[in-house]
Amino acid sequence: MKMSKVLVVTVAAVGAAGWGMAAHADGKAKFEADCAECHEAGDFAGEDAKALADTIKKIAAGQQKHKSKITLTDAEITSVAAFMAAGK
Ligand code: HEC
Repeated sequence: MKMSKVLVVTVAAVGAAGWGMAAHADGKAKFEADCAECHEAGDFAGEDAKALADTIKKIAAGQQKHKSKITLTDAEITSVAAFMAAGK
C-alpha cells in the first residue's frame, strides 16, 4: 500500500518537472535497458552531450564500429546522451 502511493507521487513529480527532466528520465531508463550491460553511466560523465549524441548516431547508423548494434531513435539518442553526460 505505502509503496504504490510513493510510486504515484514520483510519477506525478516527473510529469510536472517538464520535458527536460522527463527526457532525462527516459534516457536513464533506455541506458539501463540497452547499455548498462556493458557501460556504467559514470564512464561518460562530464562528456559533451552533443558530441556523445553524434557518436551514438554514427554507431546507430553503422558508421562507427561498436560492440553492439544500437537501435534507438534520434530522440532516444538525445535523451540517452543527456543522461550519460550527466553521469547519473
Ligand atoms: C555488448 C556490450 C555493449 C553494449 C550493450 C553497449 N556498448 Fe557501447 N561500447 C562497448 C565497448 C566494448 C566499447 C569500447 C570499445 C569500442 O570503442 O568499441 C563501447 C564504446 C562506446 C562508446 C564510445 C565510442 C567512442 O569511440 O568514443 C559510446 C558512446 C557507446 N559505447 C555508447 C553506447 C550506448 C549509448 C549503448 C546503449 C544504447 C551501448 N554503448 C551499448 C560495448 C557495448
